[in-house]
Amino acid sequence: MRIDIISAAPNLLESPFNHSIVKRAKEKGLAEIVIHDLRTFGLGNYKQIDDTQFGGGAGMVLMIEPISKCIDALKAERRYDEIIYMTPDAKTLNQSTANTLSLQENILILTGHYKGVDQRVRDMFVTKEISIGDYVLNGGEVAALVMIEAISRLIPGVIGNPESLAEESHNEIGALEYPTFTKPAQWRGLTVPEVLMSGNHGQIAQWRRDEALRRSKLAE
Ligand code: ADE
Repeated sequence: MRIDIISAAPNLLESPFNHSIVKRAKEKGLAEIVIHDLRTFGLGNYKQIDDTQFGGGAGMVLMIEPISKCIDALKAERRYDEIIYMTPDAKTLNQSTANTLSLQENILILTGHYKGVDQRVRDMFVTKEISIGDYVLNGGEVAALVMIEAISRLIPGVIGNPESLAEESHNEIGALEYPTFTKPAQWRGLTVPEVLMSGNHGQIAQWRRDEALRRSKLAE
């Protein structure tokens, strides 16, 4: 899978991609992540990428021309399954969307900054808009990082034991994950549920299912 990201603050993105699960996906040759500095496509000697908004109001808006130059250049090289704009005024990312995206071949992510992008960019190029939650970040970079981490670990082959993906929170039954324990069995008087030490796999599975559903109800 190839992920291209267009950003006005590319420095924010570089370090996280060289660590974490995303690094593993890259090293295994399962994900290629390419960051494009929007400033390279800026206008004039000052490489301008943003301007004040028509109608007045605080905040700068990313201009359509630098973005369109960058997107046109990328689209000339490959077909994108999705061109995604990270924005707080969109549907919130969930596990199902991350799953779908992890199966795509090429995605292009556009991160906004300042007061966002010229609306015509969204109308003209963007095929999907994604928020990571109902709060406003200063730019879309951190949101893109969150989404890319959620996607990368789902790319077939990235995580050694695919069972751990099927079992974890927000899996296909939509329940949160069951509680987990490790050694020591006793710590400051706190014990581990006896069923987990019973060796009875049927009872353990049932207990985990019940606990996962109970947690999900509490979180509602
Ligand atoms: N850009 C700013 N805030 C955001 C959010 N909550 N989700 C995605 N992109 C954003």
